[in-house]
Amino acid sequence: MPTTLLQSDLPGLTLRHRGKVRDVFDLPRERLPADAPSGAALTGDFLLMVATDRLSAFDVVLPDPIPGKGEMLCQISNFWFEKTAHLLPNHLTGIDVASVLPAGVDPALYAKRSVVTKRLKPVPVEAIARGYLIGSGWKDYQRTGAVSGIALPDGLRQAEKLPEPIFTPSTKAAVGDHDENIDFDTMVKAVGPELAERVRDATLRIYSFAADYAAQRGILLADTKFEFGTDADGRLYVMDEMLTPDSSRYWPADEYEVGTSPPSYDKQFVRDYLETLDWGKTAPGPALPAEVIERTRAKYAEALQKLAGIVVE
Ligand SMILES: Nc1ncnc2c1ncn2[C@@H]1O[C@H](COP(=O)(O)OP(=O)(O)OP(=O)(O)O)[C@@H](O)[C@H]1O
Ligand SMILES: [Mg+2]
Repeated sequence: MPTTLLQSDLPGLTLRHRGKVRDVFDLPRERLPADAPSGAALTGDFLLMVATDRLSAFDVVLPDPIPGKGEMLCQISNFWFEKTAHLLPNHLTGIDVASVLPAGVDPALYAKRSVVTKRLKPVPVEAIARGYLIGSGWKDYQRTGAVSGIALPDGLRQAEKLPEPIFTPSTKAAVGDHDENIDFDTMVKAVGPELAERVRDATLRIYSFAADYAAQRGILLADTKFEFGTDADGRLYVMDEMLTPDSSRYWPADEYEVGTSPPSYDKQFVRDYLETLDWGKTAPGPALPAEVIERTRAKYAEALQKLAGIVVE
């Protein structure tokens, strides 16, 4: 049975960060199980990342959970981490979540929605790959004919497939601000040429692999955002969440039409409903009708099934 969790409650663990969807806890080494691998394979610090069932729309966290959403998100991420492990190492450790939970916490509530990760030094950019011209990429193109400084052919239409996938980094905005696309030179100034190139190569390699994989299952991967981090030895890992509907634009291939903006895969029902309300898109968000919650839940379940082949009842 899927579980529902709006906010983590893990007495004794230090909350490091609460995002819109995920709660991140510090995991000191002494909390790891005695049989956890040690040595070079698992040095440094660790995190417990919990995907809750919170849903955000227009950047506001809504009061109602989507039951099981965090479990589905976490499983989609885990699926892709495993599928792409041959392309780049990732932050997962394989350490059993139940083994690090405080005594008295129900493991069933956390097991499927959480991961124990290496704590890495974040590369301070959002690494975005785009295969189609949509969202902020489409806006920038209309204004300048380029996206993140990459000049594109004239006459491209909204949602059109690009001649080849492009790497369009953006800043990681502070809370409340919006991310801003930056060109590669600006990224080079921020992180140095060598790391910038490794991140660009990894982003495009993983995007192309995932886009091919999804296309074979009737889903277009229009664009996606990765986050990368480095360990004490400077080794590069993909971290955070990976290729989820929250970090990616997935489109059903059979509804794709150039010149139109395809609906959001997962949040369309919520957005359509919210547009019927007189709501200023500032917190607190409104309650959702049961039908909107269920249809949204079903979209996450569909993504998990189509991509990872995992069926949720
Ligand atoms: N392995 C890791 N090591 C260190 N930091 C990590 C790792 N994986 C993810 N992070 C960081 O943890 C944080 C996760 O936050 P989360 O995505 O839940 O919220 P957010 O990015 O602040 O906001 P939003 O809800 O808009 O995504 C991010 O700052 C991310 O960069
Ligand atoms: Mg995030």
